[in-house]
Amino acid sequence: MKLNRRRFLTATLGATCAGLVPYRYSIARTNDDFFEIIAAPTDQKLYEEDAPASSLWTYNGAAPGPEIRVKKGARVRARLINNLEEPTSIHWHGIRIENAMDGVAGLTQDAVEPGQTFDYEFTVPDAGTYWYHAHNRSWNQVARGLYGPLIVEDEAPAFDKDHDLTLVLDDWRLNDEGVLDTDSLGSLMEWSHAGRLGNWLTVNGLSLPEMSLRAGEAYRLRLINASNARILEIDPARFGGLVLGYDGQDLAEPQKLDYAPLLIGPAQRVDLLVIPEVGSGFEMEEISGGQSHSFVRFRIAGDGIAAGVEIKLQPNNLPQPDMENAKIVTLDMTGGAMRGVAGIMYQGQELTRDDVMRTGQLWGMNGVANLADEPLFVARRGETISMETMNNTAFAHAMHIHGHHFMITGRSGSEIDEEQPWRDTFLIGPDQKTKIAFVADNPGKWLLHCHMLEHAAAGMNTWFEVT
Ligand code: C2O
Ligand code: CU
Repeated sequence: MKLNRRRFLTATLGATCAGLVPYRYSIARTNDDFFEIIAAPTDQKLYEEDAPASSLWTYNGAAPGPEIRVKKGARVRARLINNLEEPTSIHWHGIRIENAMDGVAGLTQDAVEPGQTFDYEFTVPDAGTYWYHAHNRSWNQVARGLYGPLIVEDEAPAFDKDHDLTLVLDDWRLNDEGVLDTDSLGSLMEWSHAGRLGNWLTVNGLSLPEMSLRAGEAYRLRLINASNARILEIDPARFGGLVLGYDGQDLAEPQKLDYAPLLIGPAQRVDLLVIPEVGSGFEMEEISGGQSHSFVRFRIAGDGIAAGVEIKLQPNNLPQPDMENAKIVTLDMTGGAMRGVAGIMYQGQELTRDDVMRTGQLWGMNGVANLADEPLFVARRGETISMETMNNTAFAHAMHIHGHHFMITGRSGSEIDEEQPWRDTFLIGPDQKTKIAFVADNPGKWLLHCHMLEHAAAGMNTWFEVT
């Protein structure tokens, strides 16, 4: 299924483009210095002006939720207030966080019941582009809008506030009325295939918004893919964009890609450097399936010329893997449509095709669907883990490791090509093998799962322990 381009185009032709001010919601703090994050049902328009509003679930009344912007090293205090009708929790994606604050319902905390609150308090050790999202029944809660950006600035950022813009991308599934399709949530068909793919792409909750930039000035654009399952594809060369960093980790210097497309998997982020030239502006396009689909429009003001702009990046100091003494871990991914569930265990029993209908479990990680009592592996604190993942399924996946950043150290059968030093989520194509390495230096129980949220719900979910 593809984004419905015809419909998108029809809609944007007639749309009155709200001259969008960059993402800058302010967020109130309580007397005891907590950001207050209220999860609640919210009506929000996703489609054209004359379409009805969708019934979303949001943080503080809008999807995406408010941007939390703090300095590197800061202590973040956030109070989740659950005004939903189901339990929820918040995960701070990509933050090397204290385990008890990781927000994984069922592993690091109990889900927060309706009417209850939970106080999160943690330090942000690294600058970068992160995000927060619901981590209980995420396939449902994230699809309905429970997510927002979390930006950690360097002590002396290379870009000031006016030159540092957040773009949260989401592909919503809209029905024929142009409202969020909730009937299809939980469809086994999607759980067993590529996950829930939408047909309507928004940026900061808006359709084809317009931002204005000044010619000759350097901007950091922080792209966050909040889609349940869609891998977004862009080509930064079309607008002269360079890459500043991936998944919140700045590179040593801006990088010009010599390939396209640049893939942004679910939960992944990419920071781009853009220095617009004098002129009428440009659009950013999603280019999967060989078609171009504009999702944001930039107008250019002024007649400045970039003269010797020098961008000084300050990469975070992440622990370097010690490959000589690494513990070798293998992860074998199986199951799903086309390959079947034979040999996958769930709650101590081998899955049959009938069980699939009954339990919704159909993917395996080393032959086990979903969280087992035993971890996938146990690491001594400080030990380097070298993990080789083999994707023996017919689908691509976006594998996320909680609490740590890792390096990609090898790939074979490469269909998906990402070259970057540090990530918290890696893409892996069908029948592809990918090696990563990281120092397991954060004690606790950590989730490792596919961030295509339907896949995680249907079994691609495991955990490891650092002692
Ligand atoms: Cu962004 Cu376990 O999640
Ligand atoms: Cu997956």
